[in-house]
Amino acid sequence: QKLKLSLEQIEKSGYEHFMLKEIFEQPKSVHDTMRGRLLVDEGVIKMAGIWDHIEKFKNANRIIIIACGTSWHAGLIGEYLIEEYARIPVEVEYASEFRYRNPIITDKDVVIAISQSGETADTMAALKLAKEKGAFIYGICNVVDSSIARITDAGSYTHAGPEIGVASTKAFTAQLTILSLIALKLGKHNGNLGNADFMSLIAELDAIPKKIEDVLSSTHELVQNIAKDFVDATNFLYLGRGYNYPAALEGALKLKEISYIHAEGYPAAEMKHGPIALIDENMPIVIIAPKKGHYDKIVSNVQEIKARKGKVIAVVNRGDTQVSEMSDYVIEIPETSECFSPIVASVPLQLLAYYIAVYRGANVDQPRNLAKSVTVE
Ligand code: AGP
Repeated sequence: QKLKLSLEQIEKSGYEHFMLKEIFEQPKSVHDTMRGRLLVDEGVIKMAGIWDHIEKFKNANRIIIIACGTSWHAGLIGEYLIEEYARIPVEVEYASEFRYRNPIITDKDVVIAISQSGETADTMAALKLAKEKGAFIYGICNVVDSSIARITDAGSYTHAGPEIGVASTKAFTAQLTILSLIALKLGKHNGNLGNADFMSLIAELDAIPKKIEDVLSSTHELVQNIAKDFVDATNFLYLGRGYNYPAALEGALKLKEISYIHAEGYPAAEMKHGPIALIDENMPIVIIAPKKGHYDKIVSNVQEIKARKGKVIAVVNRGDTQVSEMSDYVIEIPETSECFSPIVASVPLQLLAYYIAVYRGANVDQPRNLAKSVTVE
């Protein structure tokens, strides 16, 4: 037992939990995922899995992304990325629904499965179904040689390294990195993304690891302090728009998984279709409000929340004034292209969930009732 403990301590490299270690590894894991693929100076994205099957992607009627949990959230952002830059229609489905609803799939479909573990039973079954119906199946997995990686026709690994904490963190940002690379590569290839835009986007993507590093060092202490004020919260809302709507879903999932506080993620504009009824002085609302991406709309969402005395924790760009002045807590992050902003904005939300859970005395690495990979239905 003693030996096991000290081995574990070594593996945690001085961090109290694997989850915190993995949050802090993200500058490296995102960089590793891009390494050898994103060649900024040459203006090229190299991905053999895509390139070897480029005709399949080019001629696809649509791309269907299937996944569960956090990987499904990454898939939603993948939809925005691929539709915006490659103009290929994308649908995103929960693997568990897809496999049982008799979906229409043809040999003109490309099905992308996203899975950290590569072992999730529902994702595996959904892929098998798609394969039987003749679709080209592609995997985005973190675990090398996992079951999903083996049954797919092709794929790209996220090179995030082993993720031990049950709550996914670095695997998620690595998935977003791969999906960004795929979307930009397809868009460049099929002519929907012009060279100048392509070049500026890849330069921006290349800068993301540094921006994550910046967020980690500039917000770590602040987020710890914010977390102290919400240890006794019973509910949370997470709101975002556009690319940051799935980031809001992911922020809420992180909090509920490890702190056992009920949390809901919503597209900010949906607030007035129901959740606004919940808002009073006891409701904390995390709102992701970067400058690029529906900022003015978010400003009016914050006004609606403040009119009902909700407590706003805003994630904004450095130098922001409008949302910041109305908010109770402000977390500043550096600016980036709208499409990459969920990668940067997710980091303080991971930290917030982590510290709230730690202060509540929860076992963050192994939350109750959850398994790292769900290999049964
Ligand atoms: C993430 O924090 C969760 N533990 C969970 O939702 C997870 O993302 C889901 O089970 C899918 O796992 P996979 O990526 O290994 O397929």
